[in-house]
Amino acid sequence: MACLMETRDYANFDPYWYIENHIGNDFIGMQQDLDSLHKIFAECKVSGKRRLLDVGTGPTVHSVITASNHVDEIFLSDYAPQNLQYLAKWRKGEIAHPKKLLDYVLSLEDRLMTAEERENEVRDKVKGILPIDVTSEQPLGKDYDGGKFDVVISSHCIDAAVYEVDELAKCMKNVSSLLNEGGLFIIACDFGATFFQIGEYKYDGSSFTKEEVKTVMVEAGFEIKEYLEISNYEHQYCDAKGYFFIAARKLFL
Ligand SMILES: C[S@@+](CC[C@H](N)C(=O)[O-])C[C@H]1O[C@@H](n2cnc3c(N)ncnc32)[C@H](O)[C@@H]1O
Repeated sequence: MACLMETRDYANFDPYWYIENHIGNDFIGMQQDLDSLHKIFAECKVSGKRRLLDVGTGPTVHSVITASNHVDEIFLSDYAPQNLQYLAKWRKGEIAHPKKLLDYVLSLEDRLMTAEERENEVRDKVKGILPIDVTSEQPLGKDYDGGKFDVVISSHCIDAAVYEVDELAKCMKNVSSLLNEGGLFIIACDFGATFFQIGEYKYDGSSFTKEEVKTVMVEAGFEIKEYLEISNYEHQYCDAKGYFFIAARKLFL
């Protein structure tokens, strides 16, 4: 590995490098992600008029392609301004998401349309791109008054934003405050990672265990509905042993 600079600062996150090397260049890994999301939405029903928040979207919308069939409104969010700018360009149609991922979702859905048409369906559902800090008790800012959500997805965000279990627990509660009771929370976390690379930078890897994540979810008021583990994971730019998805419902008080 080339000599990389260590960082925890997402100001150093390069969205273009991430899309090219983590999203566009890891088709097997991405298929496993998309399979997992397809299965979760097939089994954990969301119906009626639904609003979804994807936390820490980064520059990639793969986490909301399947979801766009199940909700009416999607809000993307991120901490890093350069990722928000990237997403705004994508929403305007100035950037396309890797076509093979849209084609793969279409094959799972058994739908006959082009990747471009499917991507535009996702774009049409996106109603906002919001700054967020999952470490804050008011993650969308103190002036946010846009209401709560019925589905929240954290795809490698919360676990990438903090390093200790007590911090993870706080983030889980912060994000839970944005979710309606009975709402669905989906989290994807790496495990056993010591690093992941973004461009010239090396970030500390995410290494929470499934037991730790499940425990903080239950303590934050969730009932776990689905656990999916991908353990045969290999990636040039990350040494995670694997990753898992957990889907959970926020309990009614
Ligand atoms: C590893 S990337 C994951 C991106 C994408 N969701 C995916 O699945 O590939 C982690 C993302 O979390 C964002 N992030 C880091 N700290 C955050 C925080 N405190 N609040 C919200 N997002 C944060 C980063 O800017 C980055 O886009």
